[in-house]
Amino acid sequence: MNQKVLLLFSACFFIWVLSACTEVPVPTATPVTFSPTPAVKDSRVPSNSSANSVVTTRASDPTSGENLFINLGCNACHSIGEDKIIGPGLKGVFERAQTRSNMSSEDYLTQSIKYPGEYLVEGYDNLMPTTYSDLPESDLKDIISYLKTLD
Ligand code: HEC
Repeated sequence: MNQKVLLLFSACFFIWVLSACTEVPVPTATPVTFSPTPAVKDSRVPSNSSANSVVTTRASDPTSGENLFINLGCNACHSIGEDKIIGPGLKGVFERAQTRSNMSSEDYLTQSIKYPGEYLVEGYDNLMPTTYSDLPESDLKDIISYLKTLD
């Protein structure tokens, strides 16, 4: 008698397991929508976010420019006063840059650093190295913002 009950229970259990295994999954009530964010710069962060401005429009930094001026050896040839070393003293260079050509001061200074042979300051030879032409844009901006302070 006991064995029959046990057998019955096992049979029920077996059937229950089978039915559990073959159970058709019920689809979830709310389908998951996939909306990928396009990998375009700036699109993710609102323009007024400070995190964004750090990445894209970092303000130029005259202190970093001063360090670059020393580390890149500009000071070997340029005083920051009026004294001539090998190149002209750079006091007031941002102001006088406007009178050097019909470019803006920024453009003239960019050219002077990247392509020094393009415009030779009167009385000076073409002695400035051309190696600064591959300076990163941000370094160039920092240097120019530093030169701007030499008034
Ligand atoms: C080996 C010497 C030498 C080094 C190093 C040098 N320069 Fe010059 N630089 C000159 C000479 C010489 C001139 C003038 C001739 C000319 O216009 O290219 C000049 C001209 C300039 C001018 C134009 C000045 C004016 O009155 O119009 C700027 C600006 C300038 N240099 C910036 C720099 C900066 C910034 C660095 C470093 C990244 C640098 N120079 C490194 C020699 C040098």
